[in-house]
Amino acid sequence: MSEKIKTLLEALPYIKRFFGSTFVIKYGGAAMEEESLKKEFARDVALLKYVGINPVIVHGGGPMIGRLLKDLQIPTKFVDGLRVTDEKTLEVVEMVLSGLINKEIVKNINDMGGRAIGLSGKDGRLLRAKRVDDKDIGFVGDIIGVNVDIIKDINRHGYIPVIAPLADGVDGYSYNINADTAAGRIAEALSAEKLILLTDVDGVLGGDGSLISTLSKEDVDMLIKKKTISGGMIPKVTCCIDAIKGGVKETHIINGRIPHAILLEVFTDSGIGTKISGG
Ligand code: ARG
Repeated sequence: MSEKIKTLLEALPYIKRFFGSTFVIKYGGAAMEEESLKKEFARDVALLKYVGINPVIVHGGGPMIGRLLKDLQIPTKFVDGLRVTDEKTLEVVEMVLSGLINKEIVKNINDMGGRAIGLSGKDGRLLRAKRVDDKDIGFVGDIIGVNVDIIKDINRHGYIPVIAPLADGVDGYSYNINADTAAGRIAEALSAEKLILLTDVDGVLGGDGSLISTLSKEDVDMLIKKKTISGGMIPKVTCCIDAIKGGVKETHIINGRIPHAILLEVFTDSGIGTKISGG
C-alpha cells in the first residue's frame, strides 16, 4: 500500500471519532511569527473545520507587543519575568492583541477557505476577571467567570472563533489574561474534547532528553516531584492537568515549529507531541 493511502486511512478513525467535537487550540510562539508556519497553521484549522471538528483558537501576543511598546517609547518593567501592565501598556496590548494580531489570524484562516470570526474575551462577556492579587503587575487578571454561549453560536453557524485573551474586570477595568490559562478555562467551559497547546518545544521531555509521548495526571505529578518537568514546562502541564480536572478529555503539548503539527498529532496514531489525559 502506498504511504499516502496508509496515511489517509490512518486518519479515518480519528475523523470519525472527533466529528462534531470541539478542540480549543492555544496558538502562540514561532507558529505565530514565521510566515510559512502562519499559513500552514491557518490551513490546518480550516481543514479541521471541514472534517466536522469545531476548532476554537485562543492566541497570545508574542513579540509584537514588545516591539510596539518600544516604538512608542513606553518603558516596560518586569517583575519576576512578568511584564507590568500599567494603563498605557494595557492600551497597547489591547490594540495589538485584539486589533492587529487577531485580525491577521482571522484573515489567514479565511484565505485558506475557513470562515473565522475574531473576538476578545470582552465580547459577549466571554471572560470575566479580577486583578491577580499575589503580584503587583498591574492590569493582569485571573479569570473568575467564563460564558461560552457566544462561542457555541459561532461554532454552530459554521464559523471559527479566534479569541484574544482580554477580559472585563469586575472592577470596571480591562485585564490582560495569560493565553494558556484562557484557553484552558474556555476548553473547560465548552467541555472540549481536546485542549492543544502549541509551543516551541516538542513536548514533555524525559530525563534522557527524549520526548514522552503520553502521560497521565499521576505521571505528571511524579515527574514534577522528580524535577524531570521543570521551568517553563510546569505552567504548561499544570494548565493541561487543570483542564482535565475541569472536564476536558485530552490535552496535547506540541511543537508549533513543526509544519502541520496539529494534523500530525490529531490524525496519526503516534502523534508528534505529548498527550496528557486523565486516567
Ligand atoms: N491522534 C490521536 C489523538 O489525537 C493520538 C495522538 C497520540 N499523540 C501522542 N502524543 N501520543 O488522540
